[in-house]
Amino acid sequence: ERYRDQNAGDKMNPFAEQEAWEDHQIGKATLKFGSKDRKQISDDYKFVFEDQIEFIQDGMMDGVNFEDDSSVEFEKSMAESAFEKLQDDRKTLPVYPYRDALLQAVHDHQVLVIVGETGSGKTTQIPQYLHEGGYTKRGKIGCTQPRRVAAMSVAARVSQEMGVKLGHEVLGRNNHSLVCQVGYSIRFEDCTSDKTVLKYMTDGMLLREFLGEPDLSSYSVVMVDEAHERTLSTDILFGLVKDIARFRPDLKLLISSATLDAEKFSDYFDSAPIFKIPGRRFPVEINYTKAPEADYLDAAIVTALQIHVTQPCDGDILIFFTGQEEIETAEEILKHRTRGLGTKIAELIICPIYANLPTELQAKIFEPTPESARKVVLATNIAETSLTIDGIKYVIDPGFCKMKSYNPRTGMESLLVHPISKASANQRAGRSGRTGPGKCFRLYTAYNYYNDLEDNTVPEIQRTNLANVVLSLKSLGIHDLLNFDFMDPPPSEALLKALELLFALSALNKLGELTKVGRKMAEFPLDPMLSKMIVASEKYKCSDEVISIAAMLSIGSSIFYRPKDKQVHADNARMIFHTGNVGDHIALLKVYNSWRETNFSTQWCYENYIQVRSMKRARDIRDQLEGLLERVEIELTSNFNDLEAIKKAITSGYFPHSARMQKNGSYRTVKHPQTVYIHPSSGLAQALPRWVVYHELVLTSKEYMRQRKSNVGGVPLRLLRKAIALANVNQVENVLLKARSTKTNTGIEELVPDSGVLANGMGDL
Ligand code: CDP
Ligand code: MG
Repeated sequence: ERYRDQNAGDKMNPFAEQEAWEDHQIGKATLKFGSKDRKQISDDYKFVFEDQIEFIQDGMMDGVNFEDDSSVEFEKSMAESAFEKLQDDRKTLPVYPYRDALLQAVHDHQVLVIVGETGSGKTTQIPQYLHEGGYTKRGKIGCTQPRRVAAMSVAARVSQEMGVKLGHEVLGRNNHSLVCQVGYSIRFEDCTSDKTVLKYMTDGMLLREFLGEPDLSSYSVVMVDEAHERTLSTDILFGLVKDIARFRPDLKLLISSATLDAEKFSDYFDSAPIFKIPGRRFPVEINYTKAPEADYLDAAIVTALQIHVTQPCDGDILIFFTGQEEIETAEEILKHRTRGLGTKIAELIICPIYANLPTELQAKIFEPTPESARKVVLATNIAETSLTIDGIKYVIDPGFCKMKSYNPRTGMESLLVHPISKASANQRAGRSGRTGPGKCFRLYTAYNYYNDLEDNTVPEIQRTNLANVVLSLKSLGIHDLLNFDFMDPPPSEALLKALELLFALSALNKLGELTKVGRKMAEFPLDPMLSKMIVASEKYKCSDEVISIAAMLSIGSSIFYRPKDKQVHADNARMIFHTGNVGDHIALLKVYNSWRETNFSTQWCYENYIQVRSMKRARDIRDQLEGLLERVEIELTSNFNDLEAIKKAITSGYFPHSARMQKNGSYRTVKHPQTVYIHPSSGLAQALPRWVVYHELVLTSKEYMRQRKSNVGGVPLRLLRKAIALANVNQVENVLLKARSTKTNTGIEELVPDSGVLANGMGDL
């Protein structure tokens, strides 16, 4: 963006962008890496790089033909022998020589801890071995993944390897019905059938399965995979599977991990034996920057381009970013800069990968790179251990990831960009040495690495809001949470906070037992405040509207589309839904209902700058919520003209998130008072109503904001000092007053001493 501005008047000069890029290199004095000989390497890069630029400018690279052996014939025969090749590939994986020993170990022991480096074949192969070994004759094999993308892509891979269709039953080439033995299940997306015997799923989904099947009787094997990630759901699963293994001696339990801290897992599972799969790893050269990088996004892009221009096209690049937004920004900048160089450099195939990336685009990262091109994968933490991408030779590690943290005192949860741990840094570096010697460029100093990074990442259970988990455990009949068999117990303060919230939401009674409302809430795979909103909609006779709102809030990606060249149009289109300052929840409802009225028209989405894909997802989620309503016996009733009723339902879930305007246009939260601001993307950003309830608070750190400035077309997050209130309900005074007099938020002080704050806050109204 910066360069575009600089060269705005220079459109006639075809080299303008290129020169700007070069200036930038010199201006930045390129990146200098670590120790002496590494510096040498880096300087070499620089020279080659600058030579190359001249080379390009002289036009000497014109007409260079890269070898191209991917003829049509070749591809055709490839497709035909693809299955055989996959079978051969399977045999080259590090786990393969241990197949029989592994089956023997599973036979001999009920619980087994498996350790092997990422890419050794644990996730894709072990469930297949067990299937071949006959374990699916008496039940399914379930394999949990902390990430949705991993569950989907691994299931797709395994179905290819087994030569079966994924998920639902279909007819094959000769009209034989193909058995769909492999499926996956992630929240709001069940891609399994009654033929499924290998089921990949997120850890959260297995947790939910306990609600319907407390002894997991339909499973013969449960493999808790990627155990080292220690997500909240995985940690809770540990406790639950350990418990059922005691009274189900036929159930086999595998705990698999990519790191070497297996002793801890073994100790927890009563000294379960550890099965090690020796890894194959090539040496990885680690490079550090000499000084900390002010703008890691830019530094990462420059490094990637340097590698691309100076190194032969025999290895792909993997860059770790913190999230979708950063990845999209990087993708745009990279495209822009490589476009400036045209055909003068080898093709750079840019492959983003993050959780919300549409499924059809995810497959792209696994496609082999053509010989004359190079792939650059822009990934979140997902590529650290959950996904293995072959052919990576260079890893660029800015040293950050997005991490949830939770302050049990204030009850505030935030997703912040945080330095990674040493363990993560080493995992990341290791991604470059899988198929040959690799190089890792750490965009931080060696001093940072040795002195500032924590050894290991704190398990999620110790830094998150537990309300959801507490509700699930309570509905599983586990009452004594303080004595639950946690591998690492959460802070007791966080447990109490969760109990307090659930009590305030009427999900628990004074004795901490699940109420009728709580039982209904537990059926919804949603945050308790969101489930409460749905359950409350019964009373206000607006369940139809409320599940639409809940679905729209659960999409996880943006609904509004804002192309750069049409921002004004897009903003105008968006504001129509906000007419009357109805608040973001109601605006979301209006979007959904308008779309529904057009019979879910794609054209309508285009005309209104709405993301079709997000809307389709909302519709899917809504369908499922409708099914769940039926299950908890709440009638589907519509009350669209009574916005008050809808707001009341929202408020009965979200009253703990209410805030009152202060004189200067900022807001003060009612519980645990602190100053917050309305997010500029909210329809209420200008309206500033006296009272709002918000969906969530988003904290942005200073570093993050600094980096934002260099992004293309970024929203002015930097204008916001601290917190941002998103999704509001306008004019809620009387709703809040109502809420105050209802049971939902009285008597909390009986549970924990500190809860007086909420009562006071509400009293203030
Ligand atoms: O679980 P682990 O990290 O040990 O390895 P894996 O996920 O089973 O991956 C083994 C191999 O399968 C990788 O090296 C990839 O070559 C391949 N794979 C793939 O091509 N596509 C996927 N979606 C997953 C794995
Ligand atoms: Mg794996």
